[in-house]
Amino acid sequence: DKIPATLIPGDGIGPEIVDAVVEVLDALGAPFEWDRQLAGMAAVADSGDPLPLRTLDSIRRTGLALKGPLTTPVGGGFKSINVTLRQEFELYANLRPARTLIHGQRYDDIDIVLIRENLEGFYAAMEHYLPIGHDPKAIAISSGFNTRAECQRIVRYAFEYAVKNGRKKVTLVHKANILKALTGIFLEAGYQIAKEYEGRVEVNDRIVDACAMQLVLDPWQYDVIVTTNLFGDILSDLIAGLVGGLGMAPGANIGTDAAIFEAVHGSAPDIAGKGVANPLALLLASEIMLAHVGRKDLADRLEDAINDTVLTRSIRTRDLGGTADTRTLTDALKQRLA
Ligand code: NAI
Ligand code: MG
Repeated sequence: DKIPATLIPGDGIGPEIVDAVVEVLDALGAPFEWDRQLAGMAAVADSGDPLPLRTLDSIRRTGLALKGPLTTPVGGGFKSINVTLRQEFELYANLRPARTLIHGQRYDDIDIVLIRENLEGFYAAMEHYLPIGHDPKAIAISSGFNTRAECQRIVRYAFEYAVKNGRKKVTLVHKANILKALTGIFLEAGYQIAKEYEGRVEVNDRIVDACAMQLVLDPWQYDVIVTTNLFGDILSDLIAGLVGGLGMAPGANIGTDAAIFEAVHGSAPDIAGKGVANPLALLLASEIMLAHVGRKDLADRLEDAINDTVLTRSIRTRDLGGTADTRTLTDALKQRLA
């Protein structure tokens, strides 16, 4: 009943927060059997390759990975590792929940899940320049694409997520009034799929710019948001801002054969090795991972432990205004779960 899973410590604060999360998951009794593999600068140092074949093979075998932040090497022609992983494993859904954990900030009681299409749109664009006279780059051209099949797949994922997680409403976010083809196809597919969920999950739609304003003025009207790649990238950082920034923002990249769970923040080189990093974003990512493998019971226990430790007992790292280091917070969480 062990579940094999790939563990990528990553760079900078990665190994510190990954170790902390593994300790807490052990105390929780999580069923994962970790296969530790390298990626990022750690892998470059080891083998010269930021994404070694054996790491890819491991994920192919387990179909499940928990990943620390990676420093994408600058120069040397390396492609973004995160983008490579998305394409390699066809991780079509990017799940970004934003929930208020610490109250008394700018917004209280935020609970929004944003689901972003991860493979198409403008991020799969064919880009090029056209010359005018002596200027070889006088005109920049980008042609993105969305396929009906992918739009249906991502919207279906959003509705299935809503059903499984007791969510009431899915909002389709688009710009079909201007990008009539590129995002019209998404809106059309959205309402088509929504019919299958009639009476179970409500559906509505918003134009992306209006949605951005509404998210600031009245974010509580939103439940699950599903949208195309570029809009999703922008709005997912917006909703992270509603709940206090990236320090507690988890993310998941999900496909049919594999899923990779991570914190949204980077490798934080400025505090790496100091033992003060906040492991909560990655811990919340592992909570999504538990739910993903059908252990909602453990995910809920973990959530209770986080609430009790961080909210009730106010044991917080410095980025959240507290004084705890990574060790203190980790031990408190383990104690609570023991
Ligand atoms: P960053 O997220 O690493 O750091 C931004 C600020 O937030 C820093 O002041 C940092 O100390 C703080 N911070 C981030 N995570 C924290 C945590 N868990 N606890 C306490 N403080 C935290 O963003 P930055 O500096 O732009 O990127 C650093 C490196 O990370 C770059 O090489 C970038 O490419 C990479 N990166 C990787 C990502 C991934 O693998 N998913 C995502 C974003 C960036
Ligand atoms: Mg982004």
